[in-house]
Amino acid sequence: MREEVLSAAARKNVFLSPEALEMVLSNSHPIDFINTVLTKLSENSMFVTKKDVMDAIAGDTVIYAPQKTIKVQNSHKLDISVVPGTDVTGDSTCEGKIEDFANYFRNRYYTLRKIIEKRKDFGSAMPIEKAMRMDRETKIIGIIYEKKDTKNGHVILKVEDETTMCSVFISKDSPLIGETFINDEVIGIAGKPTSNKELYIANEIYHPDVPSSNKWVPSDSSASVAFLSDVHIGSYTFLENNWKKMIAWLKANSTEKEIDYIVFPGDVVDGIGVFPGQEEELTVDNIYDQYSMLSEYLKDIPDHIQMVIHPGNHDAVRLAEPQPALPEIFRKSFDSNIMMVGNPITLNIEGRTVLSYHGKGIDDWIAGVRELTYEDPLKVMKNMMIRRHLAPMYGQRNALAPEKKDYLIIDRVPDIFVSGHVHGAGTMEYKGIRMINASSWQSQTEYQKMHNFNPDPGIMPIVGLGTGKTTMMNFMK
Ligand SMILES: [Fe+2]
Ligand SMILES: [Fe+2]
Repeated sequence: MREEVLSAAARKNVFLSPEALEMVLSNSHPIDFINTVLTKLSENSMFVTKKDVMDAIAGDTVIYAPQKTIKVQNSHKLDISVVPGTDVTGDSTCEGKIEDFANYFRNRYYTLRKIIEKRKDFGSAMPIEKAMRMDRETKIIGIIYEKKDTKNGHVILKVEDETTMCSVFISKDSPLIGETFINDEVIGIAGKPTSNKELYIANEIYHPDVPSSNKWVPSDSSASVAFLSDVHIGSYTFLENNWKKMIAWLKANSTEKEIDYIVFPGDVVDGIGVFPGQEEELTVDNIYDQYSMLSEYLKDIPDHIQMVIHPGNHDAVRLAEPQPALPEIFRKSFDSNIMMVGNPITLNIEGRTVLSYHGKGIDDWIAGVRELTYEDPLKVMKNMMIRRHLAPMYGQRNALAPEKKDYLIIDRVPDIFVSGHVHGAGTMEYKGIRMINASSWQSQTEYQKMHNFNPDPGIMPIVGLGTGKTTMMNFMK
C-alpha cells in the first residue's frame, strides 16, 4: 500500500514527508485519500507536509469519497457508486423561502470562492468593502449581479460578496473587454478602486476553471462505459430499428469489449404534456406505459452491464434542477442492474469520476451568451467547466431549486463529463477531461424541423476507463 501511495504521488511529481505519508496510510482508504489530496493541492506543490495534507482536506465533507483510484481491475467485478453528496434524491430541503435563496447563493459563493483561491496565480481575496477603501491593487471574489454595457463601449459589472456590492469597470480599451460574463457566476478580479472609490478598475479576471496540470492518468482498468442519452421512448420519432442494431451489437461485443456500464443522461421517455401539441407526436400517450416499455427495451441489454438512469426535462419528476431520481411508481418494472439517481449526478466508476448532467441549462447558456450555439454544445460544456457550474443563470428558462447546497456546482474535476438534451453528438478533451455530448435515439422532431436544427441521433459514445479512449459508435448506417 505504501508503494502505491508513493507512486500515485510520484505520478503527479509530489513528494510526501514521512508524517504526511503516515497520515495517508492511517486512513481506511489510503489510495482514495491520497488521490483526493493530490487533486486539492495547489498546482506547484512538490514537497508535501502533514500540514499541507490537512489544509488540502480542510472543510471538505466528501474528502474520503473515492476519486481517481488507480488499481488493478477485475472485469467481472463491478465497481460503481454515487459520489456522496452529489445526488439530491431524498435530500431536497427546498421550500422556496427567502432564506433558502440566501443559503443557496451563499453556498455557491463560498464553494466557488474556495476553488478560485486554490489557483496558484490567485492567492486569497480581500472583502470587497475593505478593497474599496484601499489605494493599491487588491484581489476580490464576487458573484456577478448584472453586466451593463455603457454607451461609450465600456463594461460595468455589479459584483457582490458577503460585505457589499461594487461596480467593476472594464474600459473599452482593456484586453478584458471581450470576456464573457454570466449573471450569477462567481469570479475573482484583480484591480484597484478609483480615487473617489466609486468604481473598481479590473486588471485581471480569474475563473474557477480546471488547473492546467489536470490530466487523464491511465489506469489498469480494461472496462468501458457507454452512454445512451435522450432515448425518448413513446415518441413516434423513436429510432427503433437503429436502437435494435445497437442492442444486437452490444449482445455480440459487450463482453469481449468489456462494456460493463451504461449511463442514460436523461429524457429516457418522451413524457406527456412537455410541450403544446405533443400528443400528436406520441405513439404511447401514457407515462406509466412509456416507462414500462423502456424497462422492456432495457431487458435486452446484456445482464453483465450495470446501468444508471437519471432524469431529464421530459421525465416524470420536477423540472427544477437538481432533479431527484424517478419516483418508485415508475421504477417498479426495471431490473435490479439499473440504478436510479438524480440529475446531475457524479459517479465513481472504477476510480473514474463521471459527471452526468442532462443539460436543460444549455438552453440558457445559448440564449444568454452570443458565441454559444446549439450546433456546438461542447463549447457550452467547456464554458461550464471554466465556471465550474452547470447552470449559473438564475431565474431564466431553466428552473433551479434553491437547495441548501448548490448541486449544479462542479465541485470535483471529473474525468468524464457527459450531457445530452440538445441531441447532438460529439466529443472533445478539455484539460484531460473527456467531454461528450451523447446523441439521442429520436430522429428530427417537428420542433427541431421548425427551428432548422439537425440532430445527430443513433450514436453511442464509449469511453475506456483505463485509457480514456473515446469512440462514437454510429448505428445510423
Ligand atoms: Fe431530449
Ligand atoms: Fe432534454
